[in-house]
Amino acid sequence: MCGITGYVGDRPAVKTAIKNLKRLEYRGYDSSGVAYSSATGIEVRKSQGKIANLESLIGAETDLSTVAISHTRWATHGRPNEVNAHPHKDCSGKIAVVHNGIVENYAILRQQLKIKGHEFISDTDTEVISHLIEDKLPASDQITAKEFLLATRQALKELSGSFAVGIISDYIPNAVFVARKDSPLVIGLGEGENFIASDIPAVMAFTRRVIVMEDGDCAYIERNSVDVFNLDGERLDRNVLDVTWDDISAEKGGFDHFMLKEIFEEPRTVRDTLRGHILENNRVELPEVKFTTEQWNHIRRITIVGCGTAFHAGLVGKRLLEQLIRRPVEAIVASEFRYSDPIVDDETLVILISQSGETADTLAAMREARKKGAHTLGIVNVVGSTLSREADAILYTQAGPEIGVASTKAYLAQLVALSLLAIYLSQDHLLTEFDRNKMITALKQLPEQIEEILGGCSHIEDLARRLSSHSCFFFLGRSYDYAASMEAALKLKEISYIHAEAYAAGEMKHGPLALVEPGVSIIGLCTQPATNEKMISNLKEVKAREGTITTVIRKGDEVPDCADEVIEIPITEDALMPVLAMVPLQLLSYYFARERGCSIDQPRNLAKSVTVE
Ligand code: M6R
Repeated sequence: MCGITGYVGDRPAVKTAIKNLKRLEYRGYDSSGVAYSSATGIEVRKSQGKIANLESLIGAETDLSTVAISHTRWATHGRPNEVNAHPHKDCSGKIAVVHNGIVENYAILRQQLKIKGHEFISDTDTEVISHLIEDKLPASDQITAKEFLLATRQALKELSGSFAVGIISDYIPNAVFVARKDSPLVIGLGEGENFIASDIPAVMAFTRRVIVMEDGDCAYIERNSVDVFNLDGERLDRNVLDVTWDDISAEKGGFDHFMLKEIFEEPRTVRDTLRGHILENNRVELPEVKFTTEQWNHIRRITIVGCGTAFHAGLVGKRLLEQLIRRPVEAIVASEFRYSDPIVDDETLVILISQSGETADTLAAMREARKKGAHTLGIVNVVGSTLSREADAILYTQAGPEIGVASTKAYLAQLVALSLLAIYLSQDHLLTEFDRNKMITALKQLPEQIEEILGGCSHIEDLARRLSSHSCFFFLGRSYDYAASMEAALKLKEISYIHAEAYAAGEMKHGPLALVEPGVSIIGLCTQPATNEKMISNLKEVKAREGTITTVIRKGDEVPDCADEVIEIPITEDALMPVLAMVPLQLLSYYFARERGCSIDQPRNLAKSVTVE
C-alpha cells in the first residue's frame, strides 16, 4: 500500500503535492519522492524514510513548476531504499511514474524489455511501467500528446495485478495522466487547478469537489480540464462528489481511529494477500518460498514462532498445517522458544510470524533456529525488515501499514498466508483436488463475507454498549475456536484494560468455573460443527452459574438456548472460520474500549514494535 498525489495549476506544484502527500503517510513511509516539470525537462527528487526527509531536499528552485506527482512508499518489491523510491523514469528520462499497487507480471515484462535494450535501475515492479510506455511510443523525435496517451493506455493494458498510477511526461508538459485498477485514486477539482490523490482527505485542504475514479478509468488532467475515459480511449462521464466531512479525521480516512480504519481495510488486505498466489487451476504458487520437493520431503516437523497476535495466528496455523500435511506442528511464543533448548534441526521448518519483522524475541528465535540448522520461513508484513532479510524464505502478507497498536488486519493476513502455505505444502501430497478446490473457493469468498460482517457493525456497537458494565470476560472455544478465542481475549484486554481470558471450553470445569458469577461475561465461539454440541454443554455449565453468554455462531445454525446475545457470521470452511469470527470480535473490543473512553490506537504501556527482549 503506497500513497500518491499530484498537482497541476498555478501554485508551487512540488510543495502542493508534498503537502497533500503528508496526509497519506499512513499508507507507508519507507521512502518518498516527487517528479516535476522544469525548463530542462522532468526532475526527480527522492529520499529514504519519512516525507520530512524529502521536504528537506526541496528548495525555491521548484517553485516555478506547475505540474508534479509525488509518492510515499510501502515497499512490496525491492528494499525500502532511495533507488527503489518512486517516481520511476524510462530510459529517455522523459516519462515519470508513481504507482500504488502490484504489477504481478513485472518479472516477465522486465525480462522482455531488457531483451529490447531497456536498462533498469531499481528492483521495483513499478519501473516496468515507464519503460513499457516508452517501448510503445513511435520511433520518432516528435511524439505528440495523442501518441503518448495511446502508448500509455496500451502499456497499462498489458499489466496484470493492481494499479493506481500518476504519470507526467515531456510529451504532455502541462498535464498529469492517471489511471486505476483495483487501487484507489481520486481527482480533486479546483478553480484553474486540479489535484490527484489516493484518497479524498489528501486533497481536502484545497477542494471538496472530487471525482472518485472507478476501475478501468483513466484521466487526462490539465489545470482547466479533466477528461475521463477508459483504456480504449472512449470518453466517460463521472459524477462530482461534494465532500461534507470534517477535515480533522482526514488522516484516518474519515474514521475516528486507525484501529477501526484498519478493521475496515480487512477485505482489501485479504484480497491483496491472496493476489498472485492462486493459479487458474486453483493450485497455489508461492514463488518467494522456493521449497524443492526434495527439501520438503526432508522436513519431519514444523515449529511456528511469534509473539502476541502473531503467535495466535500460529495457533490457528498449527491446526491447519497438521490437518493438511499430517506432520507434527508445534506453536510456541518466541520468548520461550529461545531459552527452551528447542529440538529443531535440519529436518525442521521453523515458521516465524511477525507483522513488523522487527520483534526482538522473534528475531532471536530465528537466529537460534538457524544456528541449529533449521530451515526458516518468515511470514512478514514489512518489506525490508530484519526478519525479511535474515530468514531463508519469505511469504509476505499484504496488510499495508498497520498504525494502531492493536493488530487487526495483520492477523487476518497472517491466517490467509498460513492457509496458502498449508495448501501449497499439501497440494502435491495428501490434499485432494476436491478439497483444494473447496479451500480455494472459500478463500476467494472471504473478502465479500468480511464486507458483509462490516456492514452489520452497528449491531456489534449496540452489543458493546449492553456489555459495557461487565468487568470480567472469558472467551471460550474448542479446536479452531479455541485458537481464535486467544486472539479475541488479547484484543479486548489490550485496548479496554478489562480482564479477559481465553480457555479451551472443556477446561472451565477444571478450575476457572469458580470465577463465574453474575456480571461475568462469556463469549462462546461456536463455529465448529464437530465440537459444537460439547461446546454448548460447556456454555450451559456457565449459564447455570449466572454468567452472561454471547455466542458467535454460523449464519443458519440454531441459536443455543443458553445465549443471551448472538453474533452471526457467514459460513466458510471450518479452518477459515477464525478469519470471519475475528472481525466482529475486533469490532466488539473497539466499541467496548470506545465506550470506556480508552486510548484506542495507543493503549497504555504498549508499543507497536517491541524491539527489546
Ligand atoms: O510485529 P509483530 O507481529 O512481531 O508483533 C508481535 C506482537 O508484539 C503484537 O502482535 C502485539 O501482541 C499486538 N499489540 C497485538 O495486538
